[in-house]
Amino acid sequence: MAIRKVARMGHPVLRQKAKPVPQNKLNSPALKTLIDDMIETMHEYGGIGLAAPQIHESLQVAIIALPPELGQKEKSKKEEEPQDVLTIFINPVIQVLDPAPQGFWEGCLSVPGLRGFVERPRKIRVEYFDLKGKKQSLVAEGFTATVIQHELDHLEGVLYIEKMKDMKKLAFNEESEKFLLEEDEQHLAD
Ligand code: NI
Repeated sequence: MAIRKVARMGHPVLRQKAKPVPQNKLNSPALKTLIDDMIETMHEYGGIGLAAPQIHESLQVAIIALPPELGQKEKSKKEEEPQDVLTIFINPVIQVLDPAPQGFWEGCLSVPGLRGFVERPRKIRVEYFDLKGKKQSLVAEGFTATVIQHELDHLEGVLYIEKMKDMKKLAFNEESEKFLLEEDEQHLAD
């Protein structure tokens, strides 16, 4: 495992369409190592999601911390506090189930220090492969739907900035907290 350098806005790898992981590479040691590195890097930088292009690997792989009810891991009976479950998305395909826009403040490890208000479809379905090469599917709405769309956009070479409608709602973290965020607003830093 290794902490990898995060690509920042301006690096061409963030603008490429990531390549699918070949079927015969699912469940491979190389892919497992890449994902271990992504997990370690995400924890080091304090994100809630990370896409492979963000560590200079143009592959359709993303990891996202999901609320416990959406995670794939079996629940432990001993756990008192339900915890987010890190879910691995390989070759994901997204489908919009409800296009009604909902907005959240988003941040991105590849655009450090900034935050912007983005509206996205409120409900989606994602089909993807897990690390064992098994096909999975989940439906997400609300904030989780935004987090997933943000991460999967990285696989298309898209950053949240160009999804913004009002560039006046792009701000540095400190200023956005001081002047722009409502108290109850959730925000995403990944
Ligand atoms: Ni991001």
